[in-house]
Amino acid sequence: MVRVLHISDLHMGWIPDTRQEDEYWDRFLKEVETACRERPVNMAVLTGDFCKNGSADEFARAGQALTRLSHMLGVRKNHFFFCRGNHDSDTIYAGSSFDHYRRFLEDFYGPEQIPDQGVVTADGVQVFSLNCCKKTSLARFDDAWLDSEEIDRVLELAEAAGDDGVSRKEESPKEKFPEEKSSEEKSPAEKSLDSREETEPVRVLLHHHQPEILDDQSQMIRLGASGLFDCMFSGHLHCYARKYQWHGLTVINGMAAMPHLDFLPRGFQIAEIEKNCPVKAWGYLDAGQDRFREYEIT
Ligand SMILES: [Fe+2]
Repeated sequence: MVRVLHISDLHMGWIPDTRQEDEYWDRFLKEVETACRERPVNMAVLTGDFCKNGSADEFARAGQALTRLSHMLGVRKNHFFFCRGNHDSDTIYAGSSFDHYRRFLEDFYGPEQIPDQGVVTADGVQVFSLNCCKKTSLARFDDAWLDSEEIDRVLELAEAAGDDGVSRKEESPKEKFPEEKSSEEKSPAEKSLDSREETEPVRVLLHHHQPEILDDQSQMIRLGASGLFDCMFSGHLHCYARKYQWHGLTVINGMAAMPHLDFLPRGFQIAEIEKNCPVKAWGYLDAGQDRFREYEIT
């Protein structure tokens, strides 16, 4: 089982006074630290919208907060994974340039250290950052789509994990063999198949938008139909967290860490993911009281 901290929609710059923004992040990060003491996490994922306007300054502040979080949790930076959001183009008025985002990645991980697409972590998690935000503007705020070539590559990399001795489990043994043999009864070949199944990575997709918002669902259908992916994390919705099935994918659609309106609740999530088991998730809700409230996302 792996435990994943999920934060989305940081929106640095939404609080105009940077001193107040710092105070907000002090409180938020302490709550994350407290939650992760109860439920220690192997890794952190951030599903885009680091910024309000995509400026270099906003990205620098996001980088500082996340570096601090990495130290607070004792989770190395190479176990933090990101995808970009519709607020992360260099300016939301400018179209498709994401140079500030690319620089943020280089600064956060270090030169030449940005994790490759489909990298498998030391804990056996294969992570894919999907790029649904390509051209954003205020006028076309929800423009989002996935290119088939990108999904070809994702599927290829997910399948290729098998080349490292990792097999894909088509059906659980109980479904296939009602009278399952005990481990002493199994042949060496069967035992070796079992051990390969155990090492199959947990596969996680990061996608900024809630998947149902895309006009063209063809790539979501391909991802879901492959049966390769254990969880998709997404954001963009802001005001509440939910867990649901979408075209065969289990989706955690998380709250914003900093939503677009003052009065909206805010928060973060922790998910437990295990191969061939339902994903469990908890939300941590800032409803303006002393402490964030923990609840199970059902
Ligand atoms: Fe967004």
